[in-house]
Amino acid sequence: MIIISHELPAEWIHSVTEKYETLVGPSTLESAGLTPDLQRALPEATGLLTMLTVKVDAPLLMAAPNLKVVSQMAVGVDNIDLQACQAQGIPVGHTPGVLTDATADVAMTLLLAVARKLTQTAADAREGRWGTWNPTQWLGSDLAGSTLGIVGMGAIGQATARRAKAFGMKIVYHSRGRYLEIEKELEAEKVTFRELLQQSDVVSLHTPLTAETTHLIDGSALSAMKKSAILINTARGGVVDQDALVEALRYGEISAAGLDVTTPEPLPTYHPLFQMPNCLILPHIGSATQRTRQRMAQLACENLLLGLDSQPLKHNALDLL
Ligand code: DGY
Repeated sequence: MIIISHELPAEWIHSVTEKYETLVGPSTLESAGLTPDLQRALPEATGLLTMLTVKVDAPLLMAAPNLKVVSQMAVGVDNIDLQACQAQGIPVGHTPGVLTDATADVAMTLLLAVARKLTQTAADAREGRWGTWNPTQWLGSDLAGSTLGIVGMGAIGQATARRAKAFGMKIVYHSRGRYLEIEKELEAEKVTFRELLQQSDVVSLHTPLTAETTHLIDGSALSAMKKSAILINTARGGVVDQDALVEALRYGEISAAGLDVTTPEPLPTYHPLFQMPNCLILPHIGSATQRTRQRMAQLACENLLLGLDSQPLKHNALDLL
């Protein structure tokens, strides 16, 4: 039996449901994790298709002794204990590639919206604060000629860098690897993390959340950034120390931030970041297009089916270890 943690459109998961008996959870609006009835079914499950809101840890694996594969409908797998899966010999599918463009589009959308103060200016227009054309009002920052620092030059970092290059931005990056082709294509320069913080007008985060990247952007990183800098996060909320970010935005250590991800999600509406006029927050919509989400579900199903057949997955997150 296959557990699909949350409801998905029937045509997205058809390849699994036509072949296997499946138990499908509720809509994500009703429950973030595995509901009690799905948990009760774990002992019989041979496959588990999950969302990033489900914690897949050692206790869950112990409750599911027949599990042959975990397949996540997301590229990020920080909700999954990869070591525990590896120890049990359970491959972990994930969905890189298909969401690259959609996520880079949102990074660029945030960048443009924050640089040109769209939240504030649109509200001013709607709420009657639009006087005559004013030469010194609502002044944002230019992208052309400014520097974008990409932290994590994986596929989404590269796609964001390409978009920014088309807007005339200079690209610097910090990443574990060296990306010579990207350096050539975009005239990008690899720099140290410190140099990136000091040189960038916009810092955009594209790293997975791991022990090394947790709170990578802390108080010290924020104070190393330019006072005029913008921080964009479409990776994971945990990469940023949010308390430090609140302080940095409040006291002008950086000028603004655009976040598609936060800790926790959803971010409570009373959170101080929502009080900041210089912080634009989106509800984790990086991959949220019709086509992208369908492709993610289909790839998650492919990985699941391969794992059930004891075949190598198309994308196994254990290869990242
Ligand atoms: C992912 O895939 O990890 C995104 O955060 C959700 O699309």
